[in-house]
Amino acid sequence: MNALYQRIIKPVLFKFDPEAVHDVFVSLGEFAGRFTLLRRIFGFFYDYRGVDISKVVDGIAYRTPVLLSAGFDYNGRLTRILPALAFGGEEIGSVTAHSCEGNPRPRLTRLIRNKSIVVYKGLRNRGVDALIARLAHTPRVPGFVLGISIARTNEEAAATDATAGIHDYVESFKKLTTAGIGDYYTINISCPNAYTGETFADPKLLTELLPRLREVPCDKPLYLKMPISVPWEQFAAILDIADTNGVHGIVIGNLNKNYRDLAYPEDTSGEFRGGLSGAPCFALSNELIRKTRAHSGKRFTIIGVGGIFTPDDAMAKFAAGADLVQLITGMIFEGPGLMKQICERYAEETAS
Ligand SMILES: Cc1cc2nc3c(=O)[nH]c(=O)nc-3n(C[C@H](O)[C@H](O)[C@H](O)COP(=O)(O)O)c2cc1C
Repeated sequence: MNALYQRIIKPVLFKFDPEAVHDVFVSLGEFAGRFTLLRRIFGFFYDYRGVDISKVVDGIAYRTPVLLSAGFDYNGRLTRILPALAFGGEEIGSVTAHSCEGNPRPRLTRLIRNKSIVVYKGLRNRGVDALIARLAHTPRVPGFVLGISIARTNEEAAATDATAGIHDYVESFKKLTTAGIGDYYTINISCPNAYTGETFADPKLLTELLPRLREVPCDKPLYLKMPISVPWEQFAAILDIADTNGVHGIVIGNLNKNYRDLAYPEDTSGEFRGGLSGAPCFALSNELIRKTRAHSGKRFTIIGVGGIFTPDDAMAKFAAGADLVQLITGMIFEGPGLMKQICERYAEETAS
């Protein structure tokens, strides 16, 4: 099945606009998820069936330690099909308090030799109310974990006024917790392609945001999605603020803003047109996971994400200190069999 994807399906898909392909796949995935037979067929080829590799993290049981990262399933349409692809959970979103149209097209550009996607989505999503309505009416697949990533609405008002920005995050968080939707929540403070960028990665503003979020009654884990293109001093300051504000975990991390980290920077015009996913995130994320463990010990759960294309890549994240891993770009470049391969490798390593 992997050879089929690499030799036939991927070359055809990669001839079309990435966002159009993405939209078609989300629609197909949503459709397939509705039918037991189709879920079983996908599961037959792509689900993990080996020894028990389940893991409990912050009180949540994951069937496998591999999750779909935020940015693929913005509107929570794939919750029923993803378990058949060996995922133990997904991070839905990022969702925002109000719906967002996103940035002007092109919002996604493949850099094939670089094993990367330039992401300029601008948080295109239908908003938190639509997400809650959808998930409230979608049957849950037992054991499949739903994290919800919350970002600030990508519009001028919420972006330029810090108080409005805080209110926006809190509004989404309150609505989700009140509705009981989501097993954990990740606050995305590091979207590089929204108005005014990563405003709340500024330690001063984060110090204002987190206490407001902690006022919302919530007995589920709260995580922070970290920027990876910031100096270590700023990263460490964010960790310290997260520590004092009762944040449970750290997702390391978001897209890379530095085009000089591409293997072939000449494949872009050089002008910043969104953050880079995939290979340019790999080493940076691993290094920050290691440094976070050295800085904060076992204080935080760490979810490692960025540039996982092979089981070895995933194992490198666990070896650096990650409790769970997430991916998107690897699945697009390597195919839907990647997650099962990672699980098989994880089973071998943890058994020995
Ligand atoms: C198309 C796309 C959209 C993304 N949108 C979001 C988002 O809305 N929120 C977020 O926290 N991360 C977003 N990301 C970043 C991913 O969650 C992930 O951190 C990054 O892509 C590195 O992982 P990867 O190399 O496995 O793709 C997006 C990534 C991609 C490729």
